[in-house]
Amino acid sequence: METLFKALIVRENDGKFDLAVETISTPELPKNEVLIKVSYSSVNYKDALSASGNKGVTRKFPHIPGIDAVGTVVSSMVVQFQPGDDVLVTGYDLGMNTWGGFGGYISVPASWIAKLPENLSPLEAMSFGTAGLTAGLSVYHLINSNVKPDSGKIAVSGATGGVGSISVAVLSKLGYEVVAISGKDEPIFLTRTLGASSSISRQEFVEKYNTKPLSATEFAGGIDTVGGNILSAILKSSKYNGVVTCCGLVASTELSTSIFPFILRGVKLIGIDSVEQPVNIKQQIWNLLSEEWKPANLSELIEEISLEQLPETLKNIINGKAKGRYVVRHNH
Ligand SMILES: NC(=O)c1ccc[n+]([C@@H]2O[C@H](COP(=O)([O-])OP(=O)(O)OC[C@H]3O[C@@H](n4cnc5c(N)ncnc54)[C@H](OP(=O)(O)O)[C@@H]3O)[C@@H](O)[C@H]2O)c1
Repeated sequence: METLFKALIVRENDGKFDLAVETISTPELPKNEVLIKVSYSSVNYKDALSASGNKGVTRKFPHIPGIDAVGTVVSSMVVQFQPGDDVLVTGYDLGMNTWGGFGGYISVPASWIAKLPENLSPLEAMSFGTAGLTAGLSVYHLINSNVKPDSGKIAVSGATGGVGSISVAVLSKLGYEVVAISGKDEPIFLTRTLGASSSISRQEFVEKYNTKPLSATEFAGGIDTVGGNILSAILKSSKYNGVVTCCGLVASTELSTSIFPFILRGVKLIGIDSVEQPVNIKQQIWNLLSEEWKPANLSELIEEISLEQLPETLKNIINGKAKGRYVVRHNH
């Protein structure tokens, strides 16, 4: 059966990328195992790259971005998902070269789908989205590496951004002392809303901890979302056996550091990928985020927007001006 729905479509015209909300129909979607009616999506840095024509993310246009989606199964070719099931999809190829969550319906392989946990509403799921899943994976690796709340301070970079803000909020909820590194003058948001113990500007952080091959020890661990000299500074100021996770590249794709943090202090650097992670691991993190890891004030960390507000929001993300998370509502 054909159903019409609205989507944010990116079209390439003479090397320029134009965004518009258009009406399309379900038969235009790729033919995959499960058709899902999307209630919410969310906005991530990768969506901003896709929408601005970054060919490393999206090769073919016209395209519907949106690497996250939550919704209800409409039809399924597999037994494990039945019409009416509440499900969520993040990562894999969704929103990259498979039309994504900025459309009212998606069609995806069953292997990409997690069940929406009982204690997570669709709005809450997308308040986390890929950013929350990535933050969750980062926290999971710190805990598995024996970094405990009493181990010492944890540095989180890009702290007002999607991954950073959820990382600060989850760590604070779990009782960690968090130092939020940010380029914005937002001490109230960082400490009162997210729960960081203190905040420090990016510039001060780099000046304090990245001038020498090794700095004074300060942190038991870190969650870096930006790369470059900030990641280098976190490594150099990590305590003996410190653990630092790395997931993002907004500052730089490069890492320049001495090897001293590794060979003199046993510091560990753990790479985080939320995209191709097997769905059972994603499900485990979603379950934790739905219960003991869920910040009490999750709704204060998000702004709900319509499809029509997406072009402006995506521009702000690319320009590093975004704060917190943006959840996209579909009005069916
Ligand atoms: N590996 C994975 O699976 C995975 C998953 C999700 C995201 N990511 C990556 O993680 C990064 C963060 O994603 P996100 O969704 O949180 O993005 P976001 O919401 O745009 O947040 C990024 C934050 O980084 C800071 N920032 C911006 N420009 C910067 C610069 N030039 N130098 C240093 N910091 C800068 C800003 O925070 P402040 O102003 O507070 O400093 C900004 O809010 C991106 O690179 C994204 O591609 C990776």
